[in-house]
Amino acid sequence: MTSDSRENGSAHKLVSALVFSGKKLVPRVIREHISEYVNSWRTARSPDRALLIKSILPAFGQTSAVAFHKAILWIGCRRYTKNYYSLLEHGGAQCWTLDLDPRVSQWGRAGRHVVGDILNLADIFPDIRFDVILCNGIFGFGIDTSSTQRRAAEAMATVITPGGWLLLGWNTDRIADPVQTQVMKPWFDQASLPSVGERFVVARSTHVYDIFRRCPA
Ligand SMILES: C[S@@+](CC[C@H](N)C(=O)[O-])C[C@H]1O[C@@H](n2cnc3c(N)ncnc32)[C@H](O)[C@@H]1O
Repeated sequence: MTSDSRENGSAHKLVSALVFSGKKLVPRVIREHISEYVNSWRTARSPDRALLIKSILPAFGQTSAVAFHKAILWIGCRRYTKNYYSLLEHGGAQCWTLDLDPRVSQWGRAGRHVVGDILNLADIFPDIRFDVILCNGIFGFGIDTSSTQRRAAEAMATVITPGGWLLLGWNTDRIADPVQTQVMKPWFDQASLPSVGERFVVARSTHVYDIFRRCPA
């Protein structure tokens, strides 16, 4: 054994010991907080986020669906989504947020956030009909099987206006193609969002954005 490999082995043992003792010394809640922060930081810089902020949200802004007095529903909140709501509300619309996990309420729209299940939308919002629903990273992150996706599509269909826009963001390594499996039928048809199109496959990523519109009732 050379002196270099002996030194590398010792360094590796030292790092392992530090990580091990760090795990024992740093309380789990702080480790979880750091991990959430690092994951958010990474996600906020991913190619699908850049596309969402630079192209897709502004494209919705060009439609009449996000104008004054219109209602928007953003499903699934994270630290990095908290800046999206003001972008969506730029033209005077009101954005609501929803997430099943009460721990992420702090990242929802202040004053218009609901803790709840996408499958219960009709009970949660009996009086609101949304002009746009943005459902990004929910299919494949809790709504995983085709039958649950179909139930979620039906639930979204009950709270969206006829002709309302739906953004469905999903990952090819997590779920089957929702257009191929037809889980959005018969409630939603694929639709072309000006300057985005019907489907945007994000380069260097497994992320796909699909655009739908609620079929007339
Ligand atoms: C990967 S994050 C996606 C967050 C965000 N929409 C985005 O664009 O990145 C998935 C979120 O979906 C939420 N979620 C999972 N199943 C849900 C359900 N049945 N109803 C509402 N929210 C759900 C989780 O709590 C989590 O916060």
